[in-house]
Amino acid sequence: MKEVIVKTSGKTYPIYIESGIFNRLPDICQENYSGKKLAVVTDNNVYNIYGKTFVKKLEQKGFFVIPIIFEAGEKNKNLVTLTSIYDALAEHAFTRSDIVVALGGGVTGDMAGLAAATFLRGMGYIQIPSTLLAMVDSSIGGKVAVDLPQGKNLIGAFYQPDSVYTDPMLLETINDRCFSDGMAELLKHGFIKDISLYEKLVNNEYDRKSLSENLDEYISVSCNIKRSIVEEDEKDNGIRQLLNFGHTIGHAIERVQNFSGLSHGEAIAIGMIFITKLTESMGLTEKGEAEKIIKALKKYKLPITWPELNIADVVKAIALDKKNRSGRITLACIERIGHGRLIEIELKELEDKIYGILED
Ligand SMILES: NC(=O)c1ccc[n+]([C@@H]2O[C@H](COP(=O)([O-])OP(=O)(O)OC[C@H]3O[C@@H](n4cnc5c(N)ncnc54)[C@H](O)[C@@H]3O)[C@@H](O)[C@H]2O)c1
Repeated sequence: MKEVIVKTSGKTYPIYIESGIFNRLPDICQENYSGKKLAVVTDNNVYNIYGKTFVKKLEQKGFFVIPIIFEAGEKNKNLVTLTSIYDALAEHAFTRSDIVVALGGGVTGDMAGLAAATFLRGMGYIQIPSTLLAMVDSSIGGKVAVDLPQGKNLIGAFYQPDSVYTDPMLLETINDRCFSDGMAELLKHGFIKDISLYEKLVNNEYDRKSLSENLDEYISVSCNIKRSIVEEDEKDNGIRQLLNFGHTIGHAIERVQNFSGLSHGEAIAIGMIFITKLTESMGLTEKGEAEKIIKALKKYKLPITWPELNIADVVKAIALDKKNRSGRITLACIERIGHGRLIEIELKELEDKIYGILED
């Protein structure tokens, strides 16, 4: 078993990474959380594949468990579903020492985490991530949130879990597109912080089966990269913005497509390529790095060409970015693979350069 310890101002917690740990979790819970009530928050897909049996096994260990199931999808990461979680917790008289268990992808983790952060001003919170994106990204670092019609993640908090149990075997049931989505974030960690992770991934023969053999290792390296950044800047005021590499353009693409076109990982893949082409053209990135990024993303079946979209709409959406402060924007980029850096740029200059790159 691999263990990554995350130390933040309010809490120190472990991320356990082990193929097969999910099957041992009822025993682990009995050892660590006996006497507490558990609310297992999960979406309908994950509940049918894993949740139902999991809840039954926890009950057999003597736990009082309520499953809280919502319909899968980003469109349900909202205040209505959040309220239904609060209702269930209140109805069953959960207390601050009881535990919300998030079993699922990033949508589940973000929403269950916000419920745990706010119900009774904070209760126990355990994560069992079930997508690659959740394993390498959303389950680490304590950002919890729901969306508003006006935008993604507009209601949120920083709330670190008590423990994260990551079982790469749960990935056997996710589809290829969802897997590639997570690979975009895993590769991103290599691009900004770790050339050896990049090299291993790019030199690998890619098929999911052979990748799975080393997945515990890749996930733990990736978690460690995010851990180190989060520990330095938990509240996202500085270096944590490096994790937004590719996200300024990626989010704008998602927004223009009304979150129903490219997936998040696909959109940031395009974002990482085009921001690197842009910073190469400005002399901030060594020449040839965008091509290396393209090679890696292509290998993991991520898109590498600009989608059919009006450039002006994307540029307009960039101006709405949360990182836009009085006409200047902080941009994550790389000097070369493994060396991320933040730059500040006038929005107007960024817009002009994006036109230049995309019209090329
Ligand atoms: N908190 C953070 O730091 C952070 C970071 C990145 C992304 N996010 C958030 O994460 C969300 C995206 O996460 P996601 O891509 O995991 O989406 P998701 O949670 O919607 O999961 C994607 C799909 O996979 C299904 N699924 C999940 N696990 C499965 C499994 N093991 N087998 C079969 N199907 C499974 C789900 O039912 C869903 O349909 C977004 O809301 C994003 O804002 C948060």
